[in-house]
Amino acid sequence: MEIILAEQAGFCYGVKRAVDLAEQAGTHSGFTYTLGPIIHNPQVVDRLLKRGIKKVDDLDEIQEGTVIFRSHGVGPQIIEDAHTRQLTVVDATCPFVKRAQMDAKMLHDAGYSVIIVGEKDHPEVQSIVAWADGDAVVVASLNEAQALPPMLKTGIVAQTTLAARDFTAIVEAIQAKSAEVKVCDTICNATHDRLSAAESLAKHVDVMIVVGGKHSANTTRLARLCSETGTLTYHVEIAKELKPAWFKNVRRVGITAGASTPDWIIEEVFQTMQDIDFSKMFEESLKGIDRGAIVTGTVVQVGRDEVFVDIGYKSEGIIPRNELSVDSNLQPEDIVKVGDEIEVYIIKQEGKDGYPLLSKKRADARKGWEKIEELAKANTIISVTVIEVVKGGLVVNINGLRGFIPASQIERRFVADLSVYVGQELRVRILELDRSKNKIVLSQKVVLEAEANISKEQTMSDIVEGQVRQGVVRRLTDYGAFVDIGGIEGLLHVSEMSWARVKDPAMIVSVGDEIPVKVLKLDKEANRISLGLKQMQPDPWVEVINKYQVGQIYQGKIVRLAKFGAFVALEPGIDGLIHISHLANRRVLQPEEVVTVGQDVKVKVIDINPAEHRIGLSIREAEQEQEKAQYRAYIDQQEDTDGMVGDTSAELGEGQG
Ligand code: F3S
Repeated sequence: MEIILAEQAGFCYGVKRAVDLAEQAGTHSGFTYTLGPIIHNPQVVDRLLKRGIKKVDDLDEIQEGTVIFRSHGVGPQIIEDAHTRQLTVVDATCPFVKRAQMDAKMLHDAGYSVIIVGEKDHPEVQSIVAWADGDAVVVASLNEAQALPPMLKTGIVAQTTLAARDFTAIVEAIQAKSAEVKVCDTICNATHDRLSAAESLAKHVDVMIVVGGKHSANTTRLARLCSETGTLTYHVEIAKELKPAWFKNVRRVGITAGASTPDWIIEEVFQTMQDIDFSKMFEESLKGIDRGAIVTGTVVQVGRDEVFVDIGYKSEGIIPRNELSVDSNLQPEDIVKVGDEIEVYIIKQEGKDGYPLLSKKRADARKGWEKIEELAKANTIISVTVIEVVKGGLVVNINGLRGFIPASQIERRFVADLSVYVGQELRVRILELDRSKNKIVLSQKVVLEAEANISKEQTMSDIVEGQVRQGVVRRLTDYGAFVDIGGIEGLLHVSEMSWARVKDPAMIVSVGDEIPVKVLKLDKEANRISLGLKQMQPDPWVEVINKYQVGQIYQGKIVRLAKFGAFVALEPGIDGLIHISHLANRRVLQPEEVVTVGQDVKVKVIDINPAEHRIGLSIREAEQEQEKAQYRAYIDQQEDTDGMVGDTSAELGEGQG
């Protein structure tokens, strides 16, 4: 196996300088402290501790001695504070960071609004802000830059490890917002050079090993970049974490390391990989993994088509996507995430590329059967998720197993389109179970029926005539609608839907409508309930006696014809009858001879009976009234005309005399 070390790997200039300064300071007598970890590498921090150099988080923790400021730097206030406490100060701030700090101070002193491009919480950025007297805005992304308000005079400084491409884009966005912009490009090339060296190496090897602290931002970034090239990448802190399975059938391995990784750790990793016979270790690591066994492992990587699981045998196993779950609609990330502890079934000790081949689906199934057998015994209601529609029913995920619900067992009624259930959660009971045939038959219908029966009994015991209940319209017929009022259906007859005459029930209600209904009649023996909807509205006939008077003429509309006359709507819900003998001033054989449906007519009220909801009307009498009125008007006009002529003559006579 060929092992290649990246051209730039490990300590950068600034970190090496800081660690060297710390080690030198530690050789002097007295107490020595670093303010914060000197670098993000636990092994280096431990090594310094062994040399008497202790990490503190605050100057208050130091009584006397030497304080070392790490490569990220600190603000002027902290330096002054350390001097006031009479501590010996070793300033290991990286010269590139120092330059950024000084640029921020210069811009602030010159009256620029200072913008620092970088991560707000990073100690380096915080130290640069402090040198601008705390008067600086930190911008982490292009979006944040675009959201800035218009400015007059802006000075920009970069976090030293920033990607040049990101910095350029953000500077352009700020330039579009500010009348004057001064840019201080304080980016250090060390990070960029290390990243590009790692990326190009990753593209030419089978496996990449990234060495460095798990909490080091730059090492994590390095590992992510290598992984994005498509090469299998492992991030280790020390050589002991290397696993033989990673190198099975591997010809070329690349090693890189973050800026905070010391040479001796890189060297150790390199040596370990050269010295160890990985093939032998791999064979040994497989001892104890029995085919068919179920073991617990930790998810270490979730890919699009597979999941890597550390099963504690110095070798990671692979679960192919189709072995993750019985539900093929799910993506690997829907099922597991890195760090999850899961049980896996060993399919093969050596599968693809030599990795143990594992199955979560089969481990779940084994456990699932045990659980399902218990549930079946207890006849428990179980929640299942519908995976797919198959011929004759639905396939569901029940405790990691495939169960079947026949189409006839889904609802209490016939269902035409089963596809609407895919992805839905249903509550079911087990109808049939046969582990040897891997057969689980389920029913939602039995659950629904049992619930409906309970609800029906409850409703029947609660219901009384005159009660108003909330109901759901289940189906429509020509003569009305059946309304579910709690597990039991009552009939809402068309005549009880509205005070106005209703021809078609669909004009008033639709299937699925939730409506309040009044229980009009109840026959518990025959299980028959009559419901009313119009009773929810005020009865217009109550007002009829006040609104209409016998002998008065009103406007109405012919709404229907019968052999014996015509019905006239005086208002919605109030229809009166014109008997055929009252339709005209002559003998009428059929109403159609004189009126048509929809015609506006003037009618005289000849009889009112609100109790029986009856009003008798007459066109004949209305017309007679009208003629009489016209005649009276004519006579009145004649009399007025005669009087007027006489008066005029008299006036004329008087005038002449
Ligand atoms: Fe300094 Fe650049 Fe390293 S800023 S600390 S030399 S990455």
